[in-house]
Amino acid sequence: MASERVPRWKRRAYNIATVRDESRRALPRPVFDFVDGGAGDEHTLRRNVSAFDDVDLYPRPIGGTRERDLSTTLLGRRLSMPLIVPPTGLAGLLWPDGEAASARAATRAGSIYCLSHGSVCSLEELAETGIEPLWFQTYIYKDRGLTHEMAARAAAAGYEALIVTVDTQLLGNRERDIRNGFVIPPTMSAREVANMATKLRWLFRMRGTIPKITFGNYRRTDGGEDLTALAQRMVGLPDPGIQWRDIADLRAIWKGQLLLKGILHPADAIEAVANGVDGMFVSNHGGRQLDGVAGAVDALPAVAEAVAGRAALILDGGIRRGAHIVKALALGADCCSIGRPQFWGLSAAGEAGVAHVFDIFRRELDLTMGLCGLPDIASIGSDVLARDSTSTDTARLTAATEAVAAAAVAVAESGSAANNGDGAGAEERVEPVPEVGGPAGPEPTRYGDWERKGRAIDF
Ligand SMILES: Cc1cc2nc3c(=O)[nH]c(=O)nc-3n(C[C@H](O)[C@H](O)[C@H](O)COP(=O)(O)O)c2cc1C
Repeated sequence: MASERVPRWKRRAYNIATVRDESRRALPRPVFDFVDGGAGDEHTLRRNVSAFDDVDLYPRPIGGTRERDLSTTLLGRRLSMPLIVPPTGLAGLLWPDGEAASARAATRAGSIYCLSHGSVCSLEELAETGIEPLWFQTYIYKDRGLTHEMAARAAAAGYEALIVTVDTQLLGNRERDIRNGFVIPPTMSAREVANMATKLRWLFRMRGTIPKITFGNYRRTDGGEDLTALAQRMVGLPDPGIQWRDIADLRAIWKGQLLLKGILHPADAIEAVANGVDGMFVSNHGGRQLDGVAGAVDALPAVAEAVAGRAALILDGGIRRGAHIVKALALGADCCSIGRPQFWGLSAAGEAGVAHVFDIFRRELDLTMGLCGLPDIASIGSDVLARDSTSTDTARLTAATEAVAAAAVAVAESGSAANNGDGAGAEERVEPVPEVGGPAGPEPTRYGDWERKGRAIDF
């Protein structure tokens, strides 16, 4: 029997960098840059990836297993590997029904897809596809009624987790989009419009869809706004004056899992736990918001130490290799997420492209674990990063630990979230601030409490 022919795009796309090449080939430049770009000089965008180069693996290949078990549990859900899709808006601009295509690929890969507030389809439309579990991302809006309405809609449609993104209350300075005129209202030059026309496959595929592209969750029932008017209205909705009591208020009405996205500072991680959050994305929005911010994985150890297992941690930003997943887990994450890699796969080949991205990560993660002698996810601990105490990495993490201690003291002194005004009902959710190096507590360690990973500290 003749073996199945592997499509050309797939043969060329043998790792995430080459999937990105396929995406560049497929998309008009303004759309590719919208996906690929970051804020300002893109320092943080680059740092998200390069930070992984500062963390070295120290394999112990003797004692490994013939087969590895990559499965794990995140917030009560079994995943085939510790990798999910974070919210990424406008998927439907890359591929017809892009949100459903990505969500199908992710859930068939044993993962989770988080629908963005800025999706083309509405949250109800995605729910109708029968995909599960359902996760939805929203904001704290100036109109708190809208925040609560989004939560109520998500609950009614069967969503299990609500993600509140806290780092995009103001839109970042996306200079590629400015250059390309991919802004609101659009200011595309004739050259850019002509460039759109050179991507014939994308144009052909999207021919029936482009006129219908909208922001499904904000669309008015009378259809009385065009896309530009709708986008203009949306940009002004999130509230830059967000407070912790807003999170407490949402916690009080949202019965499912509540996660914050955009946490980098250990003091905020402590506040988040105190406000009853179930998990957080350690994230700088993929370098798309504030340039000059630390890489996501730079921020992870201090956040992990502050949280100490009391909430799920998703490392979001810069994951391009299976080895990055191992490093993130060794530094305290429970799971990782892939924004652009998923979008590159989607634009290259729709659902099959996203499935391929998951396959690449699965293969690379399995290989890394196999070569490190790691039989399963629970065995990934800090000892796989064991290194010379004079290294800059250790110095960086020592500084991070000191930041946690300072943050814990600051939060304790400020009386924590339960006392921040009218946080009615927050009292019973407040958890004690972790003792970091206090008199009765354990000796502070450079890498924090790794006990939950089932491995001793051996630095
Ligand atoms: C095109 C694009 C759209 C995005 N839209 C959203 C969004 O609507 N809401 C959100 O919280 N994050 C959004 N993000 C950020 C991602 O959720 C994630 O934080 C980021 O992509 C992680 O970095 P990575 O691309 O290196 O994996 C978007 C990212 C991209 C690339």
